Amino acid sequence: MAFSEELKDVPIAIRILGEDLVVFRDGTGRVGLLQPHCAHRGSSLEFGLVSERGIRCCYHGWLFDVDGKILETPGEPAHSTLKNRLCQGAYPTHEYQGVVFAYMGPPDKKPAFPQLDTFNLPGYRCLPGRRHLISCNWLQVKDNSMDPVHSQFLHTIVSGAQFTEEFAILPEIEWHETSCGMAYVSTRRVGDMVWVRTSDFIPPNIHQFPPTWEHAQEEKIFSRPYMTIWAVPVDDTATINTGYLHIPDTMEVSPERLVKLKLSIGQIADRPYEERQRRPGDYDAQVSQRPIAIHALEHLGQSDRGVIMLRKLIRDGIRAVQAGRDPQGVAFSGSRPISTFAQDTVLRVPPAATPEAEKQLLIDIGRRVLDGYYVKNPPPGVVVPSYALVGAS
Ligand code: FES
Ligand SMILES: [Fe+2]
Repeated sequence: MAFSEELKDVPIAIRILGEDLVVFRDGTGRVGLLQPHCAHRGSSLEFGLVSERGIRCCYHGWLFDVDGKILETPGEPAHSTLKNRLCQGAYPTHEYQGVVFAYMGPPDKKPAFPQLDTFNLPGYRCLPGRRHLISCNWLQVKDNSMDPVHSQFLHTIVSGAQFTEEFAILPEIEWHETSCGMAYVSTRRVGDMVWVRTSDFIPPNIHQFPPTWEHAQEEKIFSRPYMTIWAVPVDDTATINTGYLHIPDTMEVSPERLVKLKLSIGQIADRPYEERQRRPGDYDAQVSQRPIAIHALEHLGQSDRGVIMLRKLIRDGIRAVQAGRDPQGVAFSGSRPISTFAQDTVLRVPPAATPEAEKQLLIDIGRRVLDGYYVKNPPPGVVVPSYALVGAS
């Protein structure tokens, strides 16, 4: 919703799930997320004065606490009970590792914050990552996360290597349900190496993916993702992608590199139109599907199995809520980190004798990576990082 470092001495107007809101941090350090129109006569709290406790409306000075309680109505007589009879609409917030989250559902259904294993990986720094607007419906942003075919086509063959050249190699792809949602398993042969890249989709709106700078030249086991992204609907036709970066401690990151890591090429409409036509990126592909993609006009193929699975997971969650149940994955207490599966594994494996056997070999290796087989049975000389045991099933 917001980054901690943005909350300074003026409030910030934001829009989430079709609702206009104001977020601020008061003088005691607490974060408030309030409906903007003051309960008195409606002036917006985006012009309010951030106070030691709460925020004060600019018009007549009513003071609201971070939970919407009215603390003062200075223009009213001292004996007035008005402030005890009203409150300002407010949502609870949760601040974690530099990112402020909001819970906007029913109070009695407030889940535990989803503490993913990737948030505290030994050997990694977890930093606030990207935040950018995409002018289309949030579901097509999420569809993209389980569509690894576009990495090969859009990001490499069409637009030149927006990641590495190795992404141009046609992978064997499978999609599997996982304990936290689903994952794609994309397995390529790169010379003597087999490279298994997996990404998570965690319903309803999280995905994680591994580094885009992988060349698959060295053996490795379960190297973890570099991004966790939430697609936050602004409304039906706009989405904000936001989340964390996970940077290996061994990686030197200059401020310029950090900017590029947060937002790689083609994620926003910041380039001249003709360049976007010649080298389109995710933004262009997704937004041009229409403000809301029309599923009835699509023609889904074999390579869209991940998109179909993702939509089913979301649909199942919606139906569960409609039936008064909790959607899969919602937890009301969170004692253990949630195991996730986004990773890169690179293994030295000789090619099989025939194309058919090679295809099966790649598929089998991909399945074993997702099952945690190589974490438990690493090749000789390959060190398994301690965090790999957290993520593998
Ligand atoms: S409109 Fe906010 S105090 Fe009057
Ligand atoms: Fe992409």
